[in-house]
Amino acid sequence: MSEIAEIILDGQSYKLPVVEGTENEKAIDINALRAQSGYITLDSGYKNTGATTSAITFLDGEKGILSYRGYPIEQLAEKSNFIEVAYLLIYGVLPTTQELEDFSNKIKMHTLVNEDMRKILDGFPSAAHPMGILSALISSLTAFYPESLNPNQSKEEVDLSIIRLMAKLPTIAAWSYKNSVGHPVNYPNNKLDYASNFLQMMFAFPTEDYEVNPVVVDALNKLLILHADHEQNCSTSTVRLVGSANASLYSSVSAGISALWGPLHGGANQAVIEMLEQIKADGGDSKKFIAKAKDKDDPFRLMGFGHRVYKNFDPRAKIIKKTADDVLSALGINDPILTIAKELEEAALNDPYFVERKLYPNVDFYSGIIYRALGIPTDMFTVMFALGRLPGWIAQWKEMRENKEPIGRPRQIYIGETERNYVPIEKR
Ligand code: CMC
Repeated sequence: MSEIAEIILDGQSYKLPVVEGTENEKAIDINALRAQSGYITLDSGYKNTGATTSAITFLDGEKGILSYRGYPIEQLAEKSNFIEVAYLLIYGVLPTTQELEDFSNKIKMHTLVNEDMRKILDGFPSAAHPMGILSALISSLTAFYPESLNPNQSKEEVDLSIIRLMAKLPTIAAWSYKNSVGHPVNYPNNKLDYASNFLQMMFAFPTEDYEVNPVVVDALNKLLILHADHEQNCSTSTVRLVGSANASLYSSVSAGISALWGPLHGGANQAVIEMLEQIKADGGDSKKFIAKAKDKDDPFRLMGFGHRVYKNFDPRAKIIKKTADDVLSALGINDPILTIAKELEEAALNDPYFVERKLYPNVDFYSGIIYRALGIPTDMFTVMFALGRLPGWIAQWKEMRENKEPIGRPRQIYIGETERNYVPIEKR
């Protein structure tokens, strides 16, 4: 017999079904609770609330497991490439050779963005953060493809929006960087693969031949794969929530980009490098900064440490730490902040404050160091995260739509003033 949860409120018993996932995760289904009892549940930060069932990504924070569509992240990072993983996330299966070629070619057909988008780009000051530009330009795709606003788009039309987004986001991302340095933009080169094309749009100069370094391409593929999905995190929940109002894929992903920008989420990779630079400039004493992170009167936090769900280790951080070592040695880079990062990690992992609170390095602790070694400027780190997370957002938006999920609308417990009469301004 399936499990039942019993809840007693005001002396009355309510029986609630228990839902079990394929990896034996369990949830109490409270869908009927309010209608039956008048009660709601309260869970700030949604720490214990499952907002949906999903067949895309599984993670076990206690055991440090992460898999996409059942395939362990370690295998995908080692053996696959980003476009194959994107296909897997979006369509649910590993593609055949033909399917992968078709997907890849379709993306190549759509890498150009409308020239009018350059006019919008030109309107941004060069000091504009590339995440702001990215979010704005992705949202503006709705103006160029108004049919995407139709909530009743056919499967083929949705697929075209997906392809367009996968194709154009790297172009827009590279252009947002070019804007920040005041350089002319580079157009896509469709002879190149996804990662190489992005790199040439970022780094090629009209006056020089640009050769893509395979070490860099490999590292970029790994980083993008590791970031490709992470189930119901802040930005992904945002994408699903916005999409649940029947907003277009472009608007939903634009909202996800804004959520990702925050330093407690995707912005952490930028914050990590800024923190390591700060420690270096201060003389490199990691112990001093460990003490600051522990001091409750000091707002300083060890960026790149701690995670809402991983409580033993972040499997992505394990892969990325090794990639950081490999990339730096292959490129012959000796970055002093990598040494500071390792000292900090060592010190924190042996400190009771961090051990007791289960605070371990997360994916962002080392990703910034790799991006720096690849020549990607700090302001662009979160954009790189967005580039990686895109297939996850798309897959989650598509799943939410296909499951016909209802509009997301949380409840609240009101704690403000009870009813009172309006007082005219002269009497206040
Ligand atoms: N440095 C120092 N103390 C910390 C840190 C940290 N990085 N993270 C958590 N704590 C302490 C916190 O002060 C609290 O202590 P106490 O119990 O004494 O009040 C305890 O650990 C629990 O922290 P919390 O804020 O309740 O944990 P949370 O699950 O709400 O927050 C987090 C998770 C990731 C926002 C947080 O650990 C943090 O701010 N980390 C730094 C930012 C960061 O690296 N973010 C990237 C996350 S990975 C990328 C992604 O997937 O988005």
